[in-house]
Amino acid sequence: MSDKKLTFIATAAFGLEGIVKRELVHLGFEDAKAELGGVRFTSALEEAFRACLWLSCADRVLLVVAEGNVQSFEELYQLVLRAPWKQFLPRDARIPVSGRCARSKLMSIRDCQSITKRAIVDHMQKAYRVTVLPETGADFQVDVAVHSDIARLTLDLCGDALNRRGYRTWNGEAPLRETAAAALVKLSGWRESEPLHDPCCGTGTLLIEAAFMAAHRAPGLTRAFAVEKWPCANKAALHALREEARAQYDPSLIPEISGSDIDPEALKLAKKHIVQAGLGGKITVFERDLRDLTLDKENVCFLSNPPYGERLSDRKGCEALYRAYKPLLSRHPGSRLNLITSHPGFERVAGLRSMKKTRLYNGRLECEFMRFAPLNVQFGHKK
Ligand SMILES: C[S@@+](CC[C@H](N)C(=O)[O-])C[C@H]1O[C@@H](n2cnc3c(N)ncnc32)[C@H](O)[C@@H]1O
Repeated sequence: MSDKKLTFIATAAFGLEGIVKRELVHLGFEDAKAELGGVRFTSALEEAFRACLWLSCADRVLLVVAEGNVQSFEELYQLVLRAPWKQFLPRDARIPVSGRCARSKLMSIRDCQSITKRAIVDHMQKAYRVTVLPETGADFQVDVAVHSDIARLTLDLCGDALNRRGYRTWNGEAPLRETAAAALVKLSGWRESEPLHDPCCGTGTLLIEAAFMAAHRAPGLTRAFAVEKWPCANKAALHALREEARAQYDPSLIPEISGSDIDPEALKLAKKHIVQAGLGGKITVFERDLRDLTLDKENVCFLSNPPYGERLSDRKGCEALYRAYKPLLSRHPGSRLNLITSHPGFERVAGLRSMKKTRLYNGRLECEFMRFAPLNVQFGHKK
């Protein structure tokens, strides 16, 4: 593949587009531009692999193959037929097609999928002068997204979504997506000179993502990506980018990171994930009720994803736990709290006042991520 610039979209959960844009700019994609649900940037195909390896908060990296206004199925067919599929797809490409439609004349997802597939097959048969496409080769996941009458045809560079870093084998009861956890670490403003502790660490996602960041460990370092099997991608260039990422990983940079939880089963999983992430010995986790937690430290950065009490029956227990955060801060002078919950009354119940709130989604749940200064800053010198 030449180094001609192509257009890509790093998709992101609602509310995380700005963070993903900053990540892309930091990676050198200076024209990154946030839009609803993602960030658009241009680069050569091989360079976009850098985004696959390094983005910690994005869901996928997609190559935009065609885009245009479509008012009818015939216009969609023509748009797809004219797109440069042969530039990317080999003769034996496997071509699954997914689809989405919103606020458009074309609202039948199934029809959009099948027309897209038919147009790609017609294009490929003509381009390769064959009558049969075996579809026995590498995966080229096509997505047709029609929004406000604009159809966007993309190829997915990732395969598994980017949250699948490879360290989590089972998700636990209330998992936090790796990408969301990475975003919370970034939003917390954690300085790597501060000890970080998650007092409801569950299966350890926040801790592992924080350690990856501190150690300059590319989140995708040890997993495979669909683009690595694409014949159109320069394998040596992709290999060099992976090696460059490997060279940057330095676990000796990981500061004090620890977690605790009341549930021994969740902690077993946390320990397993920590080892699977290659971080054995770098993160400490132990069993403790948050109400009894006292670390022999000050100036701690607490980062917490407690239960939200979504079911009415859980609400009381959850609020009792929320009331324990203020005493936790008073036992740890100079310490900050960063916490995500969908419970609208956290501040009232906990008796705390946040200095910054960010609205984001944990799965489908609308949540608020709140940052609390140390108690002496929140309430003067009263505790
Ligand atoms: C939403 S889950 C956290 C999920 C975690 N972020 C992960 O990635 O797996 C909430 C956690 O709070 C823990 N928890 C509930 N009550 C607690 C308490 N009193 N003290 C400590 N942990 C508690 C639960 O055991 C559960 O693991």
